Order: sequence, then C-alpha cells, then structure tokens
Amino acid sequence: MKDGNPPFPAPELGEPYLLTPGPLTTSIEVKRAMLRDWGSWDDDFRALTADLRRRLLALLGPGANDYECIPMQGSGTFGVEAMLGTFLPRDGKVLVLSNGAYGARAAETVRYLGRQITVIDKGDYLPPRGDEVAAAIKADPAITHVMAIHCETSSGILNPLAEIADATAAAGRKLLIDSMSAFGAIDLQPDRIAFEAMVSSANKCIEGVPGFSFVLARRDALEGTKGNAHSLSLDLYAQWTAMEKTGQWRYTPPTHVVAAFIEALKAHEAEGGVAARGARYARNRDVLVAGMRKIGFETLLDSRWLSPIIVTFFSPADPAFDFARFYELMKHQGYIIYPGKLTLVDSFRIGCIGRMDAAVMENVATAAANALTEMGVANAAPPEDALAERQKLSA
Ligand SMILES: Cc1ncc(COP(=O)(O)O)c(C=O)c1O
Repeated sequence: MKDGNPPFPAPELGEPYLLTPGPLTTSIEVKRAMLRDWGSWDDDFRALTADLRRRLLALLGPGANDYECIPMQGSGTFGVEAMLGTFLPRDGKVLVLSNGAYGARAAETVRYLGRQITVIDKGDYLPPRGDEVAAAIKADPAITHVMAIHCETSSGILNPLAEIADATAAAGRKLLIDSMSAFGAIDLQPDRIAFEAMVSSANKCIEGVPGFSFVLARRDALEGTKGNAHSLSLDLYAQWTAMEKTGQWRYTPPTHVVAAFIEALKAHEAEGGVAARGARYARNRDVLVAGMRKIGFETLLDSRWLSPIIVTFFSPADPAFDFARFYELMKHQGYIIYPGKLTLVDSFRIGCIGRMDAAVMENVATAAANALTEMGVANAAPPEDALAERQKLSA
C-alpha cells in the first residue's frame, strides 16, 4: 500500500507499461469487459451508451446541466474534425491557438474544411496568452470562434485555458477546446471556464481503450448547428439528434470499446473522480521528474508549466546517447517511451497517465539510469542550445 491506496498490479500479460499519452496502460477489468459481444441495436447496449453519456457529463461538475454529450466513432482527430466542422458556421472564422503539433493539426483541419482561419503560432511550446487572444480578436472582428488546446501533448505544456476563456468570453466570442489528453484529470468546469464545446477520447485520462472520441457541448449551441457540417459521418448534430431519438449510434458503434469504457468510468469514479485522477498523475510526474533530474536529465519546461500528463526531456548532449538505443533499452526493462516532437532540439517524452502509480515512475527513472550506463553515457546534461531554448519561456 502506498499513500493509503492499493498498488496497481503490473500488466497481466507481462507487456511493457505504455508511458505514452494513449493508447495507455489499462486495468485488467477494462480489458476483461471486452470479452463479451453486444448487439448494437439491443437495449442492453443502448443502456451502456446512455450510461456513458451521463457519466461523462457528470465529470464537468457544476454547470453540466447546460451540456450534452455526443460520442463519435474514430480516434481523437475524428472528434476534433467533427467538432470544428459542426460548430464553425460556413461563414464563421476561427482563431486557432497553436503551440505544437495538435494546434497545427487543428489549423490544418480547419483549412481542409474550407472555413476562414487565423492562427496565433507560438512555435514548439510557448503558451498562447489571454492578452494575445484579446488583441487578435480586436484586430480582426470577423473572428467568431477561438480554438484552444488544453494540454498540448507534443511538449506536455498545460496551456493557460482560464485566461484564454476569459479573453474569449470578454470579447463575446465562442471557445472550442481540444482537451484530448487532459479531460478527466484536469478540471474543465463550465462555471469557471466558459466554452461552447470540447473534445476528448476514450484512451486518455479516463483510461479506456482506443475507438471513439466524445464531444461535450452546450445544448443551446448544438441546437444551432444544423446544416453546418461538411461531412455526413462527422456531423455531431445528426449524431446527437439520432442518439436522442433512438438511443443508438448512427453507424456501427465500437461496442467492445464502449463496454470497456464504462468499466474505466466506474474505476475513475471509485478513485475519486477528476481531482483524484489528476492528483495521482501529478504525483507520477513529480516522482518521474525528480528521479530523472537526479540522474542529470533536464525538462523542456519550467516546473510551473509541466502538466501531469506527459513530460518532455532534452536528450543528453553526450555523443554516446542514441534515442533508438535508449528506447530499446527502456522497452527491454518494461517501459515504452515516446519520441520527442520539438523541431529545434532533440528530446523524448515520458507519459504520466494510465493505470500506474508513483512506484512505477520510480522504476522508470532507475531504468533510464541503467540505460545510460549500458550506452556509456556519463552525463545526461542537454546541450547548451537546449537550455538557451528553455530560457525563452522563463524570460
Ligand atoms: C491534444 C491532442 N489532440 C489531438 C490528438 C489526436 O488524437 P488521436 O491520435 O487519437 O487521433 C491527440 C493525441 O494524442 C492529442 O493529445
């Protein structure tokens, strides 16, 4: 027992821990829930869908009564595209706040959809700030919506959503949020953060398996979206109205994934909901970062900006360090890590989310130390230009 909580058993089939931001390590109960088949039209499966929608809405907390939950087949990107395509009117214009790969993908999606767009591009990781949003809207009154990324998973930064939401609301514009990797572990209460719609997916902080995404949207906004969508299958208005009428998904649902997700939602509730899940991940991060710093690794972000979701570490300057070899050595010890996504300096990422606790994270740091020894890396310190890059954020 650690911190009064039962330790999580290691993956039952002996596979490595997934220290990645989804798919991630799931519990045996979640996996077992996929052992039976469900008829997609059957009342029993309709009851699962209704339960899923109700439980997800409840995670919003105060203000949830004004929202609807619309699950959508496909990975997170399908959900983002469905949200943008459904909520942006054909003559709307969106301000996309980009500071990494997922902001860039949101912008690319808007361009595919043929909607008007303007972008605040902060590069690899610098946070978009509320005053920048206010200034951009002032300079371009055609902007109707702002699109923000909650946790930009490519660097691991937790973007300052509250000030972005305040600036958007103060200007009378509407906020759309990609909370893919944050929802379920970080508060998104509508009474604190005014937003029109947000999207997340099954295989992130709720700890389900991949197969669908879901959008939580203000009912009054959703009611006004009829005819906006560019796509039949990604039309959230059509999905919502059909689900309300029949209790069914419009097209073949990922039945087993939904059953597993209900199990994951029950475990989320039993753990203590969003606050407890976020606290476990934060402790995972703290133990990981402390252990990695102890052996000389440096994080891209200052502690203040580190999310409890995923952490970017600079690759060591030592020429004996080779990421592909490091990856294999970590995998061999039972941990799958993630390559970095920075354009300017070499890095790698380690996720803190999934069915694991601080004891696992301690072992991850030990495994990293072993891997360095094996490679003959004497010093994990990053190159000077990496540290100079980090200065930009603290400046
Ligand atoms: C913030 C964010 N947005 C979008 C996505 C895309 O989701 P998917 O890879 O499931 O399509 C991810 C995936 O990690 C993400 O972290």
